[in-house]
Amino acid sequence: MTAEPLEIYLEERDLAEGLRHDVRRGLTDRPRWLPPKWFYDARGSELFEEITRLPEYYPTRAERSVLAARADEIAAVTGAKTLIELGSGSSAKTRLLLDALGRHGDLGTFVPLDVSVSALRQSTARLAADYPGLRVRGIVGDFTRHLDRLPAGGRRLVAFLGGTIGNLGPDERDAFLRAMRAALEPGDWFLIGTDLVKDPAVLVPAYDDAAGVTAEFNRNVLRVLNRELGADFDPDGFDHVACWDADREWIEMRLRARRPMRVTVLDLTVDFAQGEDLRTEISAKFRRSGIEAELRAAGFAARRYWTDEGDRFAVTLAQAV
Ligand code: AVJ
Repeated sequence: MTAEPLEIYLEERDLAEGLRHDVRRGLTDRPRWLPPKWFYDARGSELFEEITRLPEYYPTRAERSVLAARADEIAAVTGAKTLIELGSGSSAKTRLLLDALGRHGDLGTFVPLDVSVSALRQSTARLAADYPGLRVRGIVGDFTRHLDRLPAGGRRLVAFLGGTIGNLGPDERDAFLRAMRAALEPGDWFLIGTDLVKDPAVLVPAYDDAAGVTAEFNRNVLRVLNRELGADFDPDGFDHVACWDADREWIEMRLRARRPMRVTVLDLTVDFAQGEDLRTEISAKFRRSGIEAELRAAGFAARRYWTDEGDRFAVTLAQAV
């Protein structure tokens, strides 16, 4: 089957408007910050794919090993007819789920939702070609805004993999999980990947690799601002910093000004002192008790909880109650 035309809920101009809004808020705040969603232009998406293959970056491999071991159980427990994937990107790990749901027999429709039209076009075309008989309905949207557009009905399983929920702070997570629950019916399923709290000696190098790929990924957000908004950042004027916040249990990525710099972006003049930080990402790490409590507060019950062999990464299968 060929993929159906993409359903577009996020137009280029919404995206541009969102970027301007975030830049205005984040760069006039102190300390300054930018949301991580703007890392992912074509180059940023490539750099992220490269990160997933780095020796230090364990989450992708750890999650894949859990899914490989548990996909058949997920298919049997959920009996899903529709698989929805949020922030699907290249949909690589999704194939493990599609294969298992296909073996189990009830899967009819796959719905990847992503902000990137180009990533969706590629992945929907490939998946439709590789899974004859599967209906592939790509949705261009933002998982913090367009959950009410998901197709209704028929034993749904929503997958939110990769640990991406860690990019949200506690209040944003609560809002996201409640919106997710509101989009589902009792009995529907939610599969969520979360990176776990562990020794900072393992965590920090995963965000500060020896080859410098994560540093380039981090600086890429400045290139996005230069191109999209005509800003004049010198990306090489910033050092990549990754640090572990032990109290809040998250990794913080920052760009630290190597010298005083004045940057012009939109109608703003932004002065960086030498050593001043721009926060570009938080990546929260979780414990089982916290994951289950956050799910419960939003109206989900955790039915299964699995980790990889090293207990580095968890996949939780929850049900809307
Ligand atoms: C795609 C959000 C899961 O937080 O580990 C990788 C992004 N940032 N290296 C993560 C990321 C730096 C990644 N997520």
